[in-house]
Amino acid sequence: MDRDIRYLAHIESFDYPDGTHALSGIDLSVRRGEWVAILGSNGSGKTTLLRVLDGLLKDYSGSVLLDGADVRKLSPREIYRKVGLVFQSPDDQLFAPTVAEDVAFGPRNMGCSEEEATQRVTQALELVDMQHAAAKAINTLSYGQKKRICIAGLLAMGHEILLLDEPTAGLDPMGEYRMMKLLKRLNRENGVTIVMATHSVDLVPLFIDSLHILSRGRIVRGGTPEEVFTAPDEMAAVKLRLPHIAELIHKLKHEDRVGFERVPLTIGEARREIIRVLESGGFPKAGL
Ligand SMILES: Nc1ncnc2c1ncn2[C@@H]1O[C@H](COP(=O)(O)OP(=O)(O)O)[C@@H](O)[C@H]1O
Ligand SMILES: [Mg+2]
Repeated sequence: MDRDIRYLAHIESFDYPDGTHALSGIDLSVRRGEWVAILGSNGSGKTTLLRVLDGLLKDYSGSVLLDGADVRKLSPREIYRKVGLVFQSPDDQLFAPTVAEDVAFGPRNMGCSEEEATQRVTQALELVDMQHAAAKAINTLSYGQKKRICIAGLLAMGHEILLLDEPTAGLDPMGEYRMMKLLKRLNRENGVTIVMATHSVDLVPLFIDSLHILSRGRIVRGGTPEEVFTAPDEMAAVKLRLPHIAELIHKLKHEDRVGFERVPLTIGEARREIIRVLESGGFPKAGL
């Protein structure tokens, strides 16, 4: 058993009790310290997959191993010692009147002393840049701040693995970017392993090394952003699109025959590639 593999999932099939077929043929492994994105349109099965990984849904055929142990055979306590699921809507997760009380709930529940719980709350709030808000009432926070508090609540319990359901959904553009930067810091500096469900095609290539495309309950492609973001029609077939910048370069390359060698996925890569093409005289003069 490779000790660096935290999750090893082979889900043959999962149906909801009403007969909805939600997952099939899922093969997924998550390594220690990895940040994996599950990219899929609405209804593709992202939330279902996270709930299976978190041990909340058990009625599937196949197996899900967490550190080599069958998730179905672990107690909730054993799972929650390692893994925390952040719901898509913070209002489904937060329930205490104030920030500090909400974040302290988990540590207290785990049997931490008051002193240790307070220390964990302080640390967790610092990690998500919300130390100034400890005494605030939850209902006075913005949506993005609430999302940060949800993450702090799980970090305070010492989770090494975070399952995040659309952490950037509902945030404004700056909020989306800040959330991704926060996750990057937790991943790179604090060693938190992250599995993130998202449909945010423009942000993913900026931050994430490894991703899987989920379509109608199946993982149809996986790999680096360059391997996964293919042609626009293939993205459309899974109800997603290319990042806007990639769409533009793809059109210039294929419809206007500009001499791009590759299709960059981010503004930074596109800028370098455009300068290279300009310097090599790769823009066709025809029609101009
Ligand atoms: N509790 C449920 N009972 C029946 N069907 C469900 C339930 N939750 C989700 N589904 C269905 O399962 C499929 C996958 O849903 P979901 O995992 O929520 O997708 P996503 O998170 O990617 O939007 C959809 O067809 C959805 O309608
Ligand atoms: Mg969902």
